[in-house]
Amino acid sequence: MNDPTALRDRWLQAIAAATDPAALAELDSRLFGPKGEVLDFVRSVTTLPKEERPAFGKAANAIKQEVEQALAARREAFGKQTLAKELAASDFDPTEPGPRLPRGALHPITIVQNELIDLFTSMGFQWQDGPEVESEYYNFDALNIPQDHPARESQDTFWLSDGNLLRTHTSPVQVRTMQRLTKQGFHPPLKVVVPGRCFRSETVDKTHEHTFYQMEGLVVDRHVSTANLIHTMKTCLRVILERDVQVRLRPGFFPFVEPGFELDVNCPFCKGAGCSVCKQSGWIEILPCGMVHPNVLRQGGIDPEQFTGFAFGMGLQRVVMLRYGIDDIRQFMGGDLRFLQQFPEVAR
Ligand code: DAH
Repeated sequence: MNDPTALRDRWLQAIAAATDPAALAELDSRLFGPKGEVLDFVRSVTTLPKEERPAFGKAANAIKQEVEQALAARREAFGKQTLAKELAASDFDPTEPGPRLPRGALHPITIVQNELIDLFTSMGFQWQDGPEVESEYYNFDALNIPQDHPARESQDTFWLSDGNLLRTHTSPVQVRTMQRLTKQGFHPPLKVVVPGRCFRSETVDKTHEHTFYQMEGLVVDRHVSTANLIHTMKTCLRVILERDVQVRLRPGFFPFVEPGFELDVNCPFCKGAGCSVCKQSGWIEILPCGMVHPNVLRQGGIDPEQFTGFAFGMGLQRVVMLRYGIDDIRQFMGGDLRFLQQFPEVAR
């Protein structure tokens, strides 16, 4: 057997003599690889008589550690040398900030949704969420939508095999919110907005999408009137379309409001003179709304004799299209960067 001290000296010398990182790596595998010399040496304890083993084992492990440390120290020294060389050879400035990578931007629907939420919360509304997978009860029954209403058919609504459905509008959150609050003992006033994604079994074209965004609004209090509704809607449209607006109300039928309205805004493209966007009428249909039906208030646990309310359901894509002059709804889900990069507001 070789003399341990001689072996150790030979290994340490070899480490000191390695001239570059590659030579050191080779030495490392020669000493510590699967059949490495150092490991063989440590394992050779098994060939010794029993009484010699403890002393040898102790010494061998100490040598192994020493050689390992010498290797590590040499590796570190090489690393420092390489870095110093690289730094000296280039004009690299470690204090300079990194390159500016292109940052993502918010989707135009998100931009408008955020602005609307800011606006409504500044008017005292709370932001409410609801599930995209909804029950038939909340999506239809609780909203006074009759059993035989065509919206319940499978050609209009995505039904799931468990009897639930993908919500076709954000209105179900009206009753969900009222129930949650009244069960906790709260009473109106109540002011909420509910932005969210909705789904309908639509054939996609320039003006129809199967996946779309709405913002629902609900106000319940004593003596809430149509005048409150008009004022709130006008404020909202003025801020979001960034100009003074004129609105008009036409009757519209939705089972969960009575009376129900279609709120139109004067066409921003032709200023009311008539153009292809407004189909020569000077008006654009933008906001279905109305006074909350007593049956809906009752479903929410609110007494319609004491309280009244208004509600609206804004199609967000439509508002975004009007605001930016976008003429094809398919752009929103298309993922085309040339479209998306036109809305420069960076992600917050
Ligand atoms: N939920 C209706 C829809 O998607 C829109 C709507 C109409 C919402 C009238 C309302 C409302 O809150 O009062 O077609």
